[in-house]
Amino acid sequence: MDIRVEKGKAEKHSCELLLLFSFESPEKLEGPIQNVDLAWGGFISTLIRQGDFKGELFQCRLFHTHGAIPAQRVLLAGLGKRGEFDLEKWRGASSKAGQFIRDSGVKKFAFQIRKLNGYLERELTESFLIGLLLGLYQFNEFKTVDRDKIKEIEELLLLGETDEEIQPISDGLRTGKIISEAVCMARDLVNGPGNKVTPTALAKKAEEMAKEHHMEVQVFEVNQTEAMGMGAFVAVAKGSQEPGKFITLEYNKNKGLDTIALVGKGITFDSGGISIKPSEKMERMKDDMSGAAAVLATMQVASKLQIPLHIVGIIPATENLPSGKAYKPGDILKTLSGQTVEVISTDAEGRLILSDALTYSLRYQPKGIIDLATLTGACVIALGDYVIGLFGNDESLLKRIEEASEKTGERVWKLPLWDEYFDYLKSDVADFRNVGTRAAGAIIGAIFLSKFVERIPWVHLDIAGPASIEKERPYVPTGGTGVGVRLLVQLLRDWVS
Ligand code: BES
Ligand code: ZN
Ligand code: ZN
Repeated sequence: MDIRVEKGKAEKHSCELLLLFSFESPEKLEGPIQNVDLAWGGFISTLIRQGDFKGELFQCRLFHTHGAIPAQRVLLAGLGKRGEFDLEKWRGASSKAGQFIRDSGVKKFAFQIRKLNGYLERELTESFLIGLLLGLYQFNEFKTVDRDKIKEIEELLLLGETDEEIQPISDGLRTGKIISEAVCMARDLVNGPGNKVTPTALAKKAEEMAKEHHMEVQVFEVNQTEAMGMGAFVAVAKGSQEPGKFITLEYNKNKGLDTIALVGKGITFDSGGISIKPSEKMERMKDDMSGAAAVLATMQVASKLQIPLHIVGIIPATENLPSGKAYKPGDILKTLSGQTVEVISTDAEGRLILSDALTYSLRYQPKGIIDLATLTGACVIALGDYVIGLFGNDESLLKRIEEASEKTGERVWKLPLWDEYFDYLKSDVADFRNVGTRAAGAIIGAIFLSKFVERIPWVHLDIAGPASIEKERPYVPTGGTGVGVRLLVQLLRDWVS
């Protein structure tokens, strides 16, 4: 979609479709919708008064103007009750309006941005674009039939009435577009099938990104990680024919800035290995690299927005398959940290590859480590597909995450990491086991990871639930969601402001 900003007023602008928002049963119309109403002889206020358009959240109604104003059509979109309005509702309403416009077959539309309920033009524009572009996301790469039936909006014109409004609208357009594109890139990677989105493909993506956005990339082959002592990563990777890759990506290297490490689980397909999973829904396990996708996408935004932080992305990428070379229950692995792990289940592979990645991140002496992983089915049972499981060893980092969550609508819920839980991981033959009880499974997975971050402030985000969804949400279509990207971007932006 081509998006531009222009000086102009809604009621004077000639276009295929003009988008107007209204709160529910407003006492009085304000801003662009009021101006259009006046120019249109009170058409909109009459509709509202007579109950033909109520402005309920996500309600959309399309009208032809028959030349009463320059716009050919007007879409009235509801924002719900004024007192309940926030940017999350705004993103949802923007998405619903966008989907309505697309599905109506309209190719071009215009929208005048103006302060709303105390929110400023910049943040409204950013969130409008995020809601719109994320709501319009479709994954059609592998569809070959009826491609001409795929509907897409071609052009959006953002109007600002005064010179003072144009600058914040342009700023919001830029950031909103950068963030949305990155989330869509993460979604593409998650939706991409395991036979395409291989560890090699992730490494290639990291290399392309490094080239385009001036980052440093390193891709270690499995034999190199073996020589480095990553016994846990190697164990998982060696069961597969598809070569594993241990990827690092660095933005703002050697600039004396604070370092943040982002670690993403990159299992491009999780069959469970020798502890093989039931076949029902196993196809979902192509999304087991959602953490990796979020790390790549976040780094793309960080570089495009030039966030003044040294950011290190670390992605252990491999398949988890059974084979004659696969690791087995009962095996004892020596991790990069030197600690040994008794394998109880080869399906608890995420914590194994992450243990080496977390240890590896320590060499950068980060101010904070954040890992994202589709780690446990138990987290899905606990929190469902809407909420990220949040764990950590540092109150101030946890608080930063919770604040970023509040702003972005990417919900997190904190779970405890008390020492007592570690008892479940005691092993008779090694330093610990990779599996405890089924009960408290998400916490035990997180406790395992906590043994590899020493005393560095660290947060673990278990995204097993929200990584991909079966029931759409207002601006999240079904499939891969790109969860975590907006949360991390907000965290990094706020870190330096
Ligand atoms: N990738 C899975 C976790 C998962 C499950 C993500 C369902 C999304 C939906 C992970 O590698 C796994 O298999 N975890 C096991 C751990 C268990 C063996 C301790 C699980 O959750 O069953
Ligand atoms: Zn698994
Ligand atoms: Zn997994």
